[in-house]
Amino acid sequence: MQRILIDTDPGVDDALAILLAMRSPELHIEAITTVCGNVPVTQGTENLLRILEVLDLEEFPLIAQGEVQPLVKPLVTAAHVHGDDGLGNVSELQNADGSPLYPLAHANVSSTSGVDLILEMVTRYPDELTLVALGPLTNIAKAIREDAAKMQRLQKIVVMGGAFEEYGNVTTTAEFNIFVDPHAAHEVFHFDVPIHIVPLDATHQIILTGERLHAETDKRPDRISQFLRDATQSCMEFYRQHIGFWGFHIHDALPIGMLTCPAYFESVPAHVQVETEGTLTSGMTVAYLRHERRHPNPNAQVCIKVAAEAFLDHFFERLR
Ligand code: RIB
Ligand code: CA
Repeated sequence: MQRILIDTDPGVDDALAILLAMRSPELHIEAITTVCGNVPVTQGTENLLRILEVLDLEEFPLIAQGEVQPLVKPLVTAAHVHGDDGLGNVSELQNADGSPLYPLAHANVSSTSGVDLILEMVTRYPDELTLVALGPLTNIAKAIREDAAKMQRLQKIVVMGGAFEEYGNVTTTAEFNIFVDPHAAHEVFHFDVPIHIVPLDATHQIILTGERLHAETDKRPDRISQFLRDATQSCMEFYRQHIGFWGFHIHDALPIGMLTCPAYFESVPAHVQVETEGTLTSGMTVAYLRHERRHPNPNAQVCIKVAAEAFLDHFFERLR
C-alpha cells in the first residue's frame, strides 16, 4: 500500500486521475490539495468536491486549498480546454427537478493552507509519502521554501509536466503545468528528493477517443460512467476543433498509473532544467534524454514510454 498526497488543479484529466486513484486499492490517498492552474484555486476546490461526490465515499481524504497564484508570473488558466467551470461545465447540469446533477460532496475543507497540509502529511508519514503533482508546482515549491528539512522526508515526487522531444501545449516549447509556474518547477526539480516526471512525451502516446469512452460508458448506467460522459464532452470538442481528433489526452491519469501499474511505464535518468526567463521559451523543460549525451548527475527520472492500450484497459477496469 502506498501513501500518497495528490496536488491538483481540477481540470478534466485531473478528475480522471482522482477517480483512478480513489479506485486503486494499492493507494491510500491521505490528502488532496488544490492549486491554481486550469482554473482559479477556489473553483478547483469546488471541482474537487464535485468529483469526490461522484464516488459516493463513506470517508474522505483530508482536503486543503492551496496557492491562489504562481510564485512570480500572473496566473494563466485553461478554461478554453476544460470548460468555464474547469470540469466540462457539469456544474450547470440539473436533474429534472432543477437540483444539481453534480452537487458538492459534504467533505470538510481544512482551514489550514494547502502548503501547511503538505508539510503536516510529510511529517506524519516520514519517508512513506509520495506527492503526486497534477498541476503547477506552486504549492510544492512554497512548502520547500517554508520547511525544506521536512520536505526532504518525502519518499518521492511524481510530476505530470514538461515536454522534451515533443512540442509544448501552451507555447511551442512549454507544457501547461510548467508554463504556469516555471519558477516553482525550477525549485522543485533542483530539490533533493527523488523526482519522477511524466511529460507530454509520454502523455501524448495515449489518446482516449470519444469512441472508446462511449464504448466503455454508454451501456453503463452508473454514476462514474455518466460523469465520464458529461465531464469530457467539452474538452473532446476542443480537441476535435483545434487538435484534429475526437478525444483527449488523459495526461494526469498517467502519474497515478505509474504507481498502480509501473510495468506499463519506461523512464530514463536525466538532468532536467527549466527556463524561467525566456521570451519564447519560458516554461521550457530542458534535458538530454538520449543516453549518449545524458548529464553525469541526473536529478530526475523522465518517463519516455507508456504501454498505451494496456494502460487504457487498466484505467477502465479500475473504474468499472
Ligand atoms: O499539460 C497538461 C496538464 O495541464 C494537465 O495537468 C492538465 O490538467 C493541465 O493542468
Ligand atoms: Ca492538471
